[in-house]
Amino acid sequence: MRDILAPESARWRAFVEVFARVAGAAGYQQVMSPLLEDLGVFQRIGDATDVVTKEMYDFIDKGGRHVALRPELTASICRAFVQHRPTTPWKVWSTGSQFRYERPQRGRFRQFDQVDIEVLGADDPYVDVEVIALGWEFYRALGLRQVALQINTLGEPDDRARYVEALRVHFQAKFDSLSPESQATSQKNPLRVLDSKRAQDQALIASAPLIADFLSRDAAAHFATVQAGLESLAIPFTIDPSLVRGLDYYRRTTFEYQGATLDSAQNALGGGGRYDGLVESLGGPPTPGVGFALGLDRTLIACDDEGVFPAPVVDVDVFVVDTTGGEEALAITASLRAIGVRVDRAFDNRSMKSQMKAADRSGAQFAVIVGSDELAAGSVVVRPLRAERTEDSQTTIPRLDLISYMQKALR
Ligand code: HAM
Repeated sequence: MRDILAPESARWRAFVEVFARVAGAAGYQQVMSPLLEDLGVFQRIGDATDVVTKEMYDFIDKGGRHVALRPELTASICRAFVQHRPTTPWKVWSTGSQFRYERPQRGRFRQFDQVDIEVLGADDPYVDVEVIALGWEFYRALGLRQVALQINTLGEPDDRARYVEALRVHFQAKFDSLSPESQATSQKNPLRVLDSKRAQDQALIASAPLIADFLSRDAAAHFATVQAGLESLAIPFTIDPSLVRGLDYYRRTTFEYQGATLDSAQNALGGGGRYDGLVESLGGPPTPGVGFALGLDRTLIACDDEGVFPAPVVDVDVFVVDTTGGEEALAITASLRAIGVRVDRAFDNRSMKSQMKAADRSGAQFAVIVGSDELAAGSVVVRPLRAERTEDSQTTIPRLDLISYMQKALR
């Protein structure tokens, strides 16, 4: 878990603002769900997943309820859907911190942020296309170029069940050649083994049956339309038959955006898919769903690697230097802030030299200076601070003219 200080904090806010703009422009509205839910909500993510079995921050609260910090947003948003029954299609976006007790490393943290999109109540493959395209468009908006889109389908529930059975048989036959970790997952959910990055498992994964051979006609048609839709939008993608994702609720379309500059264990900048059945498992009516989450921490690392989306500059416009006690600075900052000028000031009646140093550090374009001479004369000194302001020379103006002077100078 990390502290995010300036200027990085401004970058985080800008990231969410860009996401809000991209999602809002496609008709998505923001949902804010709690950080803490009944543990049962998150158990629907799947009892064969690391997220549920090893990584949950769960505890008994003072009322004796077994609760957990959210490890992701999808289950919470489905719980909210069941509770509020909004009209469908329900198109929402969300953001915030998630918590998973993972082994921290570059691109992997125990508290990390996501931006997320979910569409509930629409079965249409063009929704999958819209969702995947929005993520793609968002990466473009950040300026990221080295992102590769991988897609797959896990079929309808029946297809998936038959496929999982075939995988079980496949892995059982050569059980001893699997890594101990994959031996354990193959017992619980053989699909998860396809997600293993361990060298020892790769041969058996490469020879595993393919989902394509288990797809019903409907599932194959759905997947074909998704591919055609992406092609018509000129969004490049690769089909990766082993893309099963780390959560158990996926049905039909799955996808991941992978960054080129991160280690393969952390290269998923974002991912998602369809999770028809999740709403039902939380007590709601049968409701199809599709969405994605993009990892903010990890995507910003990719931005650093590509040298794009720098932290925005959040300097003030004016810094007030007052060596007469600070009351003048109080009045001047208030009057400038009232007209929308960004103003900072010094405190503790420091020396002129120390206040001027603070003014330089602030990044302000102008210092407004009040010393005892100016106070007596009812004037202020306006001094340009930045190199690009050198054509504006330092001037002394009546205190009463400061507002109109600054409005003109900063225009
Ligand atoms: P996920 O693949 O578990 O999916 O997480 C989505 C993204 O969150 C990852 O691609 C990664 O960028 C980021 N992420 C996950 N764990 C960490 C971590 N420990 N540290 C840093 N970043 C991390 C979901 O969460 C699903 N809810 C996505 C979804 C939405 N599916 C359907 N709708």
